[in-house]
Amino acid sequence: MIYADNAATTAMSEAAISRMTELIRDTYGNPSSLYSFGQKAKEVLEQAREDVAAVIGAEPREILFTSGGSEADNQAIISAARIGEKSGKKHIVSSAFEHHAVLHTLNKLAKEGFEITLLDVHEDGIIRPEEVDKSIRNDTCLVTIMYANNEIGTIQDIKAIGAVCKARGVLFHTDAVQAVGHLKIDVKEENIDLLSASAHKFHGPKGVGFLYARKGIRLTNLIEGGAQEKGKRAGTENVPGIAAMAAALKEAYAAIDVNTAHLVPIRDRIIAGLGEIPHSALNGDAASRLPGNINYCFEGIEGESLLLLLDDKGIAASSGSACTSGSLDPSHVLLAIGRVHDVAHGSLRLSIGEDITEEDADYIISSVKEVVEYLRGFSPVWRDLVAGKGSFIL
Ligand SMILES: Cc1ncc(COP(=O)(O)O)c(C=O)c1O
Repeated sequence: MIYADNAATTAMSEAAISRMTELIRDTYGNPSSLYSFGQKAKEVLEQAREDVAAVIGAEPREILFTSGGSEADNQAIISAARIGEKSGKKHIVSSAFEHHAVLHTLNKLAKEGFEITLLDVHEDGIIRPEEVDKSIRNDTCLVTIMYANNEIGTIQDIKAIGAVCKARGVLFHTDAVQAVGHLKIDVKEENIDLLSASAHKFHGPKGVGFLYARKGIRLTNLIEGGAQEKGKRAGTENVPGIAAMAAALKEAYAAIDVNTAHLVPIRDRIIAGLGEIPHSALNGDAASRLPGNINYCFEGIEGESLLLLLDDKGIAASSGSACTSGSLDPSHVLLAIGRVHDVAHGSLRLSIGEDITEEDADYIISSVKEVVEYLRGFSPVWRDLVAGKGSFIL
């Protein structure tokens, strides 16, 4: 099988698996226990905090472990909102193609009376820092813009957006779930106040992640209970998961240059190959995109059928994000970059991993070409388009 759905989740690395199994077996003490067996687990936890902090240029005390990216997004946004409302600031700036962990949290705040501005992401899937600047008002308490998009892979100019927020005195959160472990990030250099990450996107385990919160930012608890994580996130810590995340992240970070040099030419080979399919279009900017992301729309077909037939050929891919693929609505990300409903339905996301080869890439290209042609062969929409009833969009 060619696994080309790494944006949905990744395989755990050997380093993460062995760290996790070793700790599950041998270091099962509770980090809050005072005896040395518990304190051993506490040491593991604090070492993981140091390791994670070092990768993104943060201080260990600025890292809070969570159950993943969704929790980190929720906590970052809710915290900034609670800080803002204390001084009457109830306006938040975000973008139309954020992950639902961000958009649904913003919807919840809108019901409480917060005003939300969702910035245009343009046809290329890139937010303009000057438009962020223009959207900030005297009552803005937060700007939340994702680092890299989970569907179309476009990477934002986070440093420029961070500089705008800093100059305007507004907190800046970035959902970096798709970027951490794949791109080099320095939270201080990029003026990031809050950042969310998730281990299972960089070969760590599922159900664990972290929130970076610049020191001095008062976090609001989402989970009440014990005094873990300085009282900001109750619940006995997932020590094996957290340590495995740190092991995976250190390894991923050390390999970023090598992985990028391997992935980018293969990504671009697939982009060029699929571009030969008539009436197709790449979604998102070609250059400013994650090294492993390819996202195309093919006119006249349904993405779901394409996925099933690719599955038969041993290729695991996705149409839209994993989180929304259970629904029949077209992807909000593709709609945000201006794709019309019919075209958005015919989308394919391939998120390739480091183990991909050129032969795999060529097999993907020939398989997608074959399947698209086959599906168009009995698509009434395609037949009408070819017969001149209606006009092609792509
Ligand atoms: C951009 C982005 N944000 C947040 C999440 C949610 O992360 P998690 O699955 O760890 O809750 C995802 C997962 O798909 C994502 O891609």
